[in-house]
Amino acid sequence: MMIPRPLTHQTQQGAFAFPPQVSLLLAYESDPGYAHFVAEELAQHIRVKSGSFVTVRVAEPSESDRGAVVLTDRQVPDGLGDEGYNLTVSPDRITLRADHNAGLFYAGQSLTQLLNHQLATQTTGQTPTTTNNGHALVRELPCADIKDKPRFPWRGFMLDSARHFQSVELVTKLIDQLAALKLNRLHWHLTDDQGWRLEILGYPKLTSVGAWRSNGGGGNGNQVSYGGYYTQEQVREIVAYAKLRQITVIPEIEMPAHNLAALAAYPQLSCHGQPSDVTNQWGLLDGVYCAGQDQTFSFLQNVLDEVAELFPSPYLHLGGDERKPGTWDNCQACQAVRDKHNLTDEPALQKWFMDRVADHVHTRLNRRSISWGDNIDAGGTQGQVVHGWLPEQSTKAARQGLDTINSTHEWVYLDYPATEKELAEDKPDWMRLLPLEKVYQFDPIPQGLEPDLHHHVLGSEAHLWTEHVPTEADLHHQLWPRLIAFAETVWSPIELRDFDDFKNRLKVQETHLCLE
Ligand code: ACM
Ligand code: ZN
Repeated sequence: MMIPRPLTHQTQQGAFAFPPQVSLLLAYESDPGYAHFVAEELAQHIRVKSGSFVTVRVAEPSESDRGAVVLTDRQVPDGLGDEGYNLTVSPDRITLRADHNAGLFYAGQSLTQLLNHQLATQTTGQTPTTTNNGHALVRELPCADIKDKPRFPWRGFMLDSARHFQSVELVTKLIDQLAALKLNRLHWHLTDDQGWRLEILGYPKLTSVGAWRSNGGGGNGNQVSYGGYYTQEQVREIVAYAKLRQITVIPEIEMPAHNLAALAAYPQLSCHGQPSDVTNQWGLLDGVYCAGQDQTFSFLQNVLDEVAELFPSPYLHLGGDERKPGTWDNCQACQAVRDKHNLTDEPALQKWFMDRVADHVHTRLNRRSISWGDNIDAGGTQGQVVHGWLPEQSTKAARQGLDTINSTHEWVYLDYPATEKELAEDKPDWMRLLPLEKVYQFDPIPQGLEPDLHHHVLGSEAHLWTEHVPTEADLHHQLWPRLIAFAETVWSPIELRDFDDFKNRLKVQETHLCLE
């Protein structure tokens, strides 16, 4: 019935009939304010879907409270962890039990899905009644006992807002959709060659210059200049909105490559120091910070200090992918650093660069850094999370004893086409075919990884790079329904994977889960 599929779901005899008036009772002492938030959201759904009048109050449920929905942190079954919950439907009441806020929130999402399911599948034998404006109503829910918790703690989605810019409204809506799928990380790719999207007060040109490119990036209509950025106030609102919905927003400030936008704003941070433009080209480009100047590092540290103020996330993503080989070869300052620190090759210089910034993140900002797995052969950095996107990167990281997020591109890059027909239509040669069923079959644990290292795999993120995703309609086209399949790969036990069963559930839940 639900997506992602829960750990256990027993259906039982009987049903809970929605009375004309439903009381939502809160007996959740660990965080009463949060229980109120979950209850108010749920009250909305119950009102609309059952037609019942709904009230919310803090109260001990008693025998006389028949027809109540109870949210509680009492009598939670053992072993469900921070994000797990127990949802029971009995003839007398519906009970959502969780030890922690995330579990309570997810119990609410699951109850909402049960209502959606019931609404879609009520048979005419039960004759759904209709409201005045013609909508079917849920009269009852079958009795059930659901115990649920996720397979992985890291269940993410990466949004590239640099190549194409999404409105605050769209990002907010996406957060609702991620939450409904029990995804808990929004990795926000905010800087790249084609645009810098985050207001930084200490370096205003990052957005006054770096957020705008001349048109030509494809699909942007006839605008002379394309771009946009998020103000710090907007970011704070998005982060708070996501937090209530159990989503940590993790900013990515990319380095040392993919930085033509930053270098257009501050050319002195490049090796050559020459003025350049924010690019409207895609691909592996030359925008690399100079590794040989102290001002590069003071700039990055100052930027990250502001970023850390805006994003309370315990993790900051530092990028680290796709530096074009040879980019530092002709720079005297870079070569001097190589000599001074006995760095034998370019990857060693990149590792030195990334480690210097990671050290600031770990020791000054007290956060964990994340970097793409490109440099893993040069040796991982203690305490860092390695974000694998090419095959073997996550395996190598785990074998070095490092935590890793496995986003191997051929399984989870949702900018790739889902059909042969789309693949044939003028797609870049680096794209692969990624049908719904392939996403559904993804296992975040890399094949061949030794079982005693599995705990290093924190989970996965599905990625949406947006070079070829210029509009909101394109974005939805790429995400749905594949992101729904992805959600099940990071939440549900792998033993319960069943694509036909998933497709049946998708038929019922799709319209609710991908509201555009
Ligand atoms: C990546 O796809 N370059 C991380
Ligand atoms: Zn240099």
